[in-house]
Amino acid sequence: MSFYVTTPIYYVNAAPHLGHAYSTIAADVMARHMRQRGEDVFFLTGTDEHGEPVALAAEREGLTPQELVDRNAPRFIDLMPRLNASNDFFVRTTDPEHMAKVQEVLSRIRDNGHVYEGIYEGWYCPRCADFKTDAELGPDNTCLIHKTPLQREKEDNYFFRLSAFQDDLLELLDEQPDFVMPRHRYNEARSFIESGLQDVSLSRSTFTWGVPVPWDDKHVFYVWFDALLNYYTALSYARPGEDLTERFWPASFHLIGKDILKFHTVFWPAMLLAAGLPLPRHVFVHGFLLMAAEGAPADGDKPALEKMSKSMGNVLDPFQIIDEFGTDALRYYCMRDVTFGQDGEVSTARFAVLYESELANDFGNLASRTVAMVHRYRDGVVPGAQLDGELAVEIDGASTELAELLDRADLSNGLDAIWQRVRRLNRYVEEQAPWKLAKDPAQAAQLDRVLASLTEALRVVGVLLHPWMPDSTGKLLHALGAPELELEGARMQAGRLGTIEKLEPLFPKH
Ligand code: MSP
Repeated sequence: MSFYVTTPIYYVNAAPHLGHAYSTIAADVMARHMRQRGEDVFFLTGTDEHGEPVALAAEREGLTPQELVDRNAPRFIDLMPRLNASNDFFVRTTDPEHMAKVQEVLSRIRDNGHVYEGIYEGWYCPRCADFKTDAELGPDNTCLIHKTPLQREKEDNYFFRLSAFQDDLLELLDEQPDFVMPRHRYNEARSFIESGLQDVSLSRSTFTWGVPVPWDDKHVFYVWFDALLNYYTALSYARPGEDLTERFWPASFHLIGKDILKFHTVFWPAMLLAAGLPLPRHVFVHGFLLMAAEGAPADGDKPALEKMSKSMGNVLDPFQIIDEFGTDALRYYCMRDVTFGQDGEVSTARFAVLYESELANDFGNLASRTVAMVHRYRDGVVPGAQLDGELAVEIDGASTELAELLDRADLSNGLDAIWQRVRRLNRYVEEQAPWKLAKDPAQAAQLDRVLASLTEALRVVGVLLHPWMPDSTGKLLHALGAPELELEGARMQAGRLGTIEKLEPLFPKH
């Protein structure tokens, strides 16, 4: 089966921070897991380069918008290998192929009768690049997200007849209750639609940085229509000379942050319906990484928590964490400490605690001592003994459990299911105390059994954990002489392992 997962495409007018890395890491975990299941996977990420915020940022810096995006896009392109993201393509909305396809699809929407000309008058937030309805106004006509004053806009626009899709969208939510996940976000999308949909601007005529409207050269498309279409357009040119649309469309999962729910769960399916294209299967909405904001008002002893963002000055720099602790530690931390689908606080102090207690101790130590014991007691050769049946039952259930959880993008419980096995194995070591067995020649067969079971279970854990921590599990599986990653092989099988190599600490203490 094909599996197509996407991240939002990132605005290039600011440097990447951990909030951006977060969606990418999550999508990468899903893509890697699905590859382990033998699915035909495509994983897309990229940058959103048009629109007023970019045009304004360029103006401030005395650059043309194209110069600005060409300078900034590489920061996001370079982030991907640093995160060990296995994306199959990186889309930029300034790619000429994307732009041509946007014009084609939006012309089709017009040909289908869903576009008309009118005058937009209302509130607009240039930072969100979003027209605000009355229900979305903060006090004194401010943006609820940015807390900055909104602009009153009046301009000639083409409109997209969003209101005509209200019933279709409600029907979609009725028929596909997992179209929007998790449930509380489904409810949010539903109530937004039920509150009544207004038509939305499809074009802008007060600036020129965007995809030109093919039927009227005074207009460019509103950036969100251009941006959303990346998920569809990229498939047509990601592989030169090949069109992957048939193979991968519709997308299996769009992963997005909660601030862009309206665009993905209302505008996007309506646009696709208007164009006569199939709808994605799931939109999974994750929460925000929150961080204590510098200088923000404190609530008792606790500093106020704010969405991590450049403008709040409370950003964790992913590059810095990677330099100091490695990519896997960053990936693990993001997926472990914040429940996927909810907001969660992150901090450098908490990162250090988890690095030490879970990565260095729980997992790193388990791997090191298991490998070391096979070397110390059996000259580096895993004994070909019958495996411990009770342990095998507990370990073998994990891959099915994991697959079911990841089908629902439940990355947090997925990781937890694996971690329970890591902890179980640490208890197993303590219970069996191989160092005691080694002292008694009458226990040699039992020691064989314990070492064989432990090493094999460690291999299984390495395979299961690979999507979260490809680097360290890769090293571990290599040392065990069993680099295969298929999920099917993630069960305890006697006699697979032979001579194993020594292993450097996976997570050195800091
Ligand atoms: N360009 C649009 C998306 C277009 S998709 C067709 C955009 N870009 S963004 O760079 O502002 O945000 C990209 C993603 O990063 C969003 O999903 C947003 O929720 C996420 N995050 C930005 N800061 C975040 C946190 N502090 N925490 C978690 N994710 C957040 O929106």
